[in-house]
Amino acid sequence: MKFFIDTANLDQIREANDLGILDGVTTNPSLMAREGIRGEENIAKHYKTISDLVKGDVSAEVISTDFEGIVAEGKKLAAINPNIVVKVPMIKDGIKALKWFSDHHIKTNCTLVFSAGQAILAAKAGANYVSPFIGRIDDSSWDGVELIEQIANIYAIQGFETEILAASIRNSLHIVRCAEAGADVCTCPLEPILGLLKHPLTDIGLAKFLADAKGK
Ligand code: G3P
Repeated sequence: MKFFIDTANLDQIREANDLGILDGVTTNPSLMAREGIRGEENIAKHYKTISDLVKGDVSAEVISTDFEGIVAEGKKLAAINPNIVVKVPMIKDGIKALKWFSDHHIKTNCTLVFSAGQAILAAKAGANYVSPFIGRIDDSSWDGVELIEQIANIYAIQGFETEILAASIRNSLHIVRCAEAGADVCTCPLEPILGLLKHPLTDIGLAKFLADAKGK
């Protein structure tokens, strides 16, 4: 399973990248706004910085909702760097645009996916990634990870090549459960990634080893 970081914060992207296990970055308009990045030019500059920093795929989201607008915006975003992936919302014109991008060899990530039916449509349209929002599903008292499992089964049975990118990850257990459920990628904030490191027995064991090594 690949690890993407879900942020537009450069310090956090650098920290995750320095660990050597980062495969890519996802962003969305809310994450850009959180960093105070606004306006087409500044947003494009920020995507350039992120996509220069990281080797893997960097998802950059369109804000248009009509086919022509999505295509025009997506073409500009894709021209920033070869590792930019155009993130398109799961709407009717989004599906049409995903097919257009697929026919024109522009990589895409279909976002705001909350059902298996939507995931089937995204795959049919040729999306490279599909992003089910695990945490937001859990927030509405459904099991987000079950959706990952369902999509993984459908894609395997049907031979769809779209990669399942588990998004809206809230904790380290989500990462583990998504790995079990067959997600191809997990995108999450830095905290849940670092949370995977933690185990009290590791700390106790290391303290003992170090004390024994010093003969204490
Ligand atoms: O990038 C999309 C997704 O990861 C959003 O997460 O925490 O806002 O539900 P969240």
